[in-house]
Amino acid sequence: MTNDNLQIAIDGPAASGKSTVARMVADRLNAFYLNTGEMYRTITWALMNKGITDFENDETLSDFLASSDLRYSLNDQDDLVLFLDDEVVDINEVRQPEVTANVSLVAKRPLIRQWMLERQRSCAKLGLLVAEGRDIGTVVFPNARWKLFVTATPMERARRRLAQSSEVEAGITLEELAKQIADRDRIDETREVSPLKPAEDSIIVDTTGLSIEEVLDKIAGIVK
Ligand code: DC
Repeated sequence: MTNDNLQIAIDGPAASGKSTVARMVADRLNAFYLNTGEMYRTITWALMNKGITDFENDETLSDFLASSDLRYSLNDQDDLVLFLDDEVVDINEVRQPEVTANVSLVAKRPLIRQWMLERQRSCAKLGLLVAEGRDIGTVVFPNARWKLFVTATPMERARRRLAQSSEVEAGITLEELAKQIADRDRIDETREVSPLKPAEDSIIVDTTGLSIEEVLDKIAGIVK
């Protein structure tokens, strides 16, 4: 089981800046950092690699999950590192646009979410954990000590994502990217199991127009 005081939940929509925030909060608090989006991306990437694109087929998904091992383990620097079947996951690989285009379709499948939940919760035994995702405060760690919901306007998020050129298709326009982000948000917000939404007791942090330093100052005032 989880110790209620040992988790900080950081949720929010795509490209809201929550990863940057979560990583820095974890650094400042000397806590472990858990990026659950990367877990969903890794499974999506692995499915695509196997040529599985019918994400609605529970039998196929179930067989795939039964033969897959996804887990976070500590490396020599005491950082949590994601492993898939004993190989370190290449984070650049799973952040590619082709994976991004499919990840919400995989993440909405109840079978996948249940499988992830056990693996995410098991990280709680490590100690102080900053976990980021879409359902950390609502489902994964509902008793987390602090819950933040980091957000920004769709246009601001698209602008930020465009600046991370390795994660977007070459030549994509700001408007196209804003639409892709909005489509992904819609799937994440409307799925039946653990949709993206702020927990009732979360603090909303709107990062629109703020620099990273300003966001961190804001959060430092909350998470002491
Ligand atoms: O944080 P990210 O953009 O890397 O997440 C990728 C996708 O994974 C996101 O579109 C929805 C899904 N996800 C989820 O459903 N639940 C989480 N806790 C984290 C991510």
